[in-house]
Amino acid sequence: MSHTTPLYASFRSIGAYIPKKILSNEDLETMVDTSDEWITKRTGIKERHIAAEDEYTSDMGAKAAAIAIERAGLSTDEIDLVLCATVTPDYFNMPSTACVISDKLGIKNVQAFDISAACSGFVYLLSLAKAFIESGMKKNVLIIGAEKFSSIVDYTDRSTCILFGDGAGAAVISATDKKEEAFIDVHASADGSYSDFLVTPAPGSRNPASQKVIDEGLQYVQMKGNETFKLAVKTLTKDVKEILEKNGIASEDIPHFVPHQANYRIIKAVGDALKMRQEQVVVTVHKYGNTSAASIPMAINDIWESGRLKKGELMLLDTFGGGLTWASALLPFAGESI
Ligand code: UT7
Repeated sequence: MSHTTPLYASFRSIGAYIPKKILSNEDLETMVDTSDEWITKRTGIKERHIAAEDEYTSDMGAKAAAIAIERAGLSTDEIDLVLCATVTPDYFNMPSTACVISDKLGIKNVQAFDISAACSGFVYLLSLAKAFIESGMKKNVLIIGAEKFSSIVDYTDRSTCILFGDGAGAAVISATDKKEEAFIDVHASADGSYSDFLVTPAPGSRNPASQKVIDEGLQYVQMKGNETFKLAVKTLTKDVKEILEKNGIASEDIPHFVPHQANYRIIKAVGDALKMRQEQVVVTVHKYGNTSAASIPMAINDIWESGRLKKGELMLLDTFGGGLTWASALLPFAGESI
């Protein structure tokens, strides 16, 4: 590549890590007043994976990242930027989980930082990777979405504890001069006026760690579920229609629609609004629940490992989460098929 050739960002590889322990709907029936029938009907979730007590967000992120680097055919010393999206970092708030992951992978003297965009984190990272690469600043960007969401879930609150799971996904985004491998578009947005829809009140400068925090359970995630649900369907439908129209691509020409895995009813509503056929829509929510920033890369990894995702095929990603934040992306898979 000469310096006069335009640089494009390409999605070169995917990896994921799924913790061993399974928390099923039947397990939850013994913990809170709920039923497998209610959870299945209202969310589509049957089970989720939970990290071990001594397994942290960085451990899961590092495992997913090592797989993605290997599948990209790179060595760790070729990575020149490490970005992690998480709302369950190892530490609130330093060192960043990206720094801890870099250390675990033996990546030294490379820029590394976290972003906080809740469930939209991975697609937000795609927009950052694209900008760093197109500007010529970086060549191989490691992006990671990793969450130990179980660490901020109140397992006595039936309105949230049935939804979330743990896990990590990672991708290598590399510079290329091949236009056919390039990201087509990434759109990321936010509206902070809805910040009370999804919130973890503590710890933070507003509510530093204290006995009061513990007594009131302010360290746990709180969600206005039904309001979030309605806004998610409305916002996502508009957002994905816009990105398709803007780029002149019809929904029937997308082989892989990979939505954020929060609730099957949201996935179905957006898929139906786009007139997607069932085989176009990637669904993993039944087995992983909502893994926040890890949900989209874990879902991409699933279709790659099962041989469904082939080199050159187009993916449409969409996501929605705390902030509120939302994002969508249109890009080909530029890695090797399995
Ligand atoms: O990833 C970030 C974005 N997050 C989301 O997109 C999540 C969006 N929200 C949702 O997925 C859904 O709103 C939930 C699954 C959280 C809830 O489903 P819903 O259809 O919106 O139910 P609801 O909150 O309106 O509650 C309906 C009823 C209530 O009882 P009453 O007031 O009708 O008697 C709840 O108390 O269901 C009750 N309920 C439960 N019942 C059994 C709430 N949670 C449970 C439960 N088991 N786990």
